[in-house]
Formats: sequence, structure tokens, C-alpha cells
Amino acid sequence: MAPQTQEASLEAHMQALIDAARAARERAYAPYSQFAVGAALLDEYGRIHCGCNVENAAYPQSQCAEASAIGQLILAGGRRIMAAVVVGVAPEPVTPCGGCRQRLCEFAGADTALWTADLNQVRGRFTLGELLPAHFGPRNLRR
Ligand code: THU
Repeated sequence: MAPQTQEASLEAHMQALIDAARAARERAYAPYSQFAVGAALLDEYGRIHCGCNVENAAYPQSQCAEASAIGQLILAGGRRIMAAVVVGVAPEPVTPCGGCRQRLCEFAGADTALWTADLNQVRGRFTLGELLPAHFGPRNLRR
């Protein structure tokens, strides 16, 4: 694919992912933090899988939006994350926590795009390699 076509296709996917992550955020269960997050992942079949954060009265048992979305992707038979969007509303752009960066890297490449957005605009454009360089992966398990 020509670079411009690739770029246009990424933009189109990203807009769909942003819409999906915003809708997922509406479903967040975040009574303790009041901080609703939505995530949307594009799989290798062009499908979108979404998740929201699910908190718990036992705080550490809470689950991030990204982890929820990964569960949906795997359940649907996906194995690769081609692009990802996280949506949250805060003064600073909402980027995935450290644990979720590791979770996302399990199924993505260093060049995989992760954009963060709020309800009005894209707030940041990253690759997973930028967010978690030199991450631990399957290759590190080789002995
Ligand atoms: N949270 C996410 O769901 N994803 C992120 O990328 C950052 C944080 C959630 C966890 C918790 O429910 C709330 O946001 C506040 O930390």
C-alpha cells in the first residue's frame, strides 16, 4: 500500500476507534475514582473491541479499560492489536498505566499506534514502543 493510502486508512480506523472508546467510556463502573475510561482496539481482522474500567470496593481488584478491551479481543478470537485508543477526560492526556502498557505490548508491535483522546479531540499520538521501550516479552523467556 502507498504510504498516503496507509496513512488515510489509519486515520479512518482511528476515528472509528475514538468513537468506540468514547461510547465504552459511558459504560465505565468507576464509583470510587469517578474517573471513567474507555478503550478500543483494532484487531487483525479489522474488528473493534472495546472496554471500560470496572472498579471494586476492594480497590486493587479494579480493572482498567485496556484490560477489559483485551479480554474482549481475545474472546472474539483476535490475537493482534493493530491500533489502540484510550479516552479519558482530564487536564493531562490519559495514557495507559504501566501494567496496561505491558498488557497491550503482548499483542502489539513497537510501531503500533496508541492515541489518547477526550470527548472533543485527540490529545496525544504515540506508538507502543514509545510508551514502553525495551519491554519484557516472549523473547525474554527463551533460555
Ligand atoms: N484507568 C484506566 O482504566 N485506564 C488507564 O489507562 C488509566 C487508569 C482507570 C483505573 C481506575 O479505575 C481509574 O482509571 C482511576 O485510576
